[in-house]
Amino acid sequence: MCWLVDLVIRNAKVVDAHFSGMVDIAIEGGDIGALLSPGTACTAAQELDAQGCIVMPGLIDAHVHLREPGLTHKETIATGTAAAVCGGVTTVLDMPNTAPPVSSPQILKEKGKLVAGQAWADVGFYALLGPGMVHQLAALVEVGCVGFKLFLGPTTGSLPAPDWGELYEAFQILADLGVPVVVHAEDRAWVECGQAQVSNRGVFDYQSFLIQRPKLGEVSATQQICLLAGATGAPIHIAHVTSAEAVEVIGRAKSYGWSVTAETSPMYLFLSDEDYAAVGTAMKVLPPVRGRTDQAALWAALRNGIIDMIATDHAPHTPADKDQDLANAAAGAPGVETLLPLLLDAGRQGRCTLADITRWCAYEPARRFGFPNKGRIQPGGRADLVIIDTNEVWTIDQSQLHSKSCVTPFHGRRGVGKARYAILAGNIVMADGDLVGRPRGNWVKPTQGGRASHAR
Ligand code: NCD
Ligand code: ZN
Ligand code: ZN
Repeated sequence: MCWLVDLVIRNAKVVDAHFSGMVDIAIEGGDIGALLSPGTACTAAQELDAQGCIVMPGLIDAHVHLREPGLTHKETIATGTAAAVCGGVTTVLDMPNTAPPVSSPQILKEKGKLVAGQAWADVGFYALLGPGMVHQLAALVEVGCVGFKLFLGPTTGSLPAPDWGELYEAFQILADLGVPVVVHAEDRAWVECGQAQVSNRGVFDYQSFLIQRPKLGEVSATQQICLLAGATGAPIHIAHVTSAEAVEVIGRAKSYGWSVTAETSPMYLFLSDEDYAAVGTAMKVLPPVRGRTDQAALWAALRNGIIDMIATDHAPHTPADKDQDLANAAAGAPGVETLLPLLLDAGRQGRCTLADITRWCAYEPARRFGFPNKGRIQPGGRADLVIIDTNEVWTIDQSQLHSKSCVTPFHGRRGVGKARYAILAGNIVMADGDLVGRPRGNWVKPTQGGRASHAR
């Protein structure tokens, strides 16, 4: 066979969630045209040799805070997506706790307009599920949100949740629409109770922080929201799971056949409370990083499918915001650029396989949030790819990261593998750590009917 294509990637050792093998990848019009036997004759406008590297689907990070509009001193669409593609992430789903929060179709439309000409990766947007918004849900879905974000407990942006009656109504509507609600599952009442306990302690050490944001709050919020998903049929997705007990609750909800998915982040997989003494407020995130037993339970839950995916909760704050005592430091850390090297390091230690990484960070988020043409390497799929030299072993250095606010708890840690190329819809957007060409990212909207329910 011989024909003219836009780009051919030769000698690609492809790894995705379902396939691995040596192929040449022919790319036409932004899509994967064909997977060819290596060496197949084919004329291409551009050719890349991936010899010695692996090729994965571009990663999809379902939980990032790009901070635009309103908080652009912390991050922007340009800087956050530059960091993403440098880390092999070609699609990010952005949270609505920006200023203004994404609480109306008009605000979502305005946010969407910021993407073209700025974004290096594709960007999808969540809308807020806040008080008084029930009548707007369908319109927000129409405009193209990937899902709704519900903050059950206090976190950056201080956005309140609707009361349970209103949530019941909202969940019924979202069950009909088949659109997932992503939940920050910490129960406000238990957080307030924890705060009161801490104020009697006199000191504010890491133990105080754990008391202030107790497991009890995470587990009870997770349980409540799973019950509501069961009662209404609404698809829910539990954000940043941190504890063994929350995993149990999610496992039970899934066993009932409810449409429940969950994510955890590298923060909880690679850090524990024991690291605080060395790492400091760089690892202050909400919910908090807990103990080693929890860390082990999260790895086990990823392996057995109770936790479906890894998302970074990329939440940059300026060095001044972070350089405070523990009680006052901002909560959140960047993560989109360190996701892949941390996971490849885990892979090298036998904690996961390359196929696991693509399942957790590409295939599952694509399925849940409605992008059936992304997250896999297959003919007809979008040509979003990352080419990785897995042999490189290096040290993560926050001064080398592309985010606007680079205070990372992973500074000084080992990273494995360098993303040599990131390819977005067939265009090279990053080569050897440098951005290439112009920002080509689009505002991406879920495919109608493209969301998998995940109900068992
Ligand atoms: C996030 C932020 O800063 O926007 N912070 C965090 O600690 N996780 C908010 C959030 O995801 O809860
Ligand atoms: Zn959160
Ligand atoms: Zn978040």
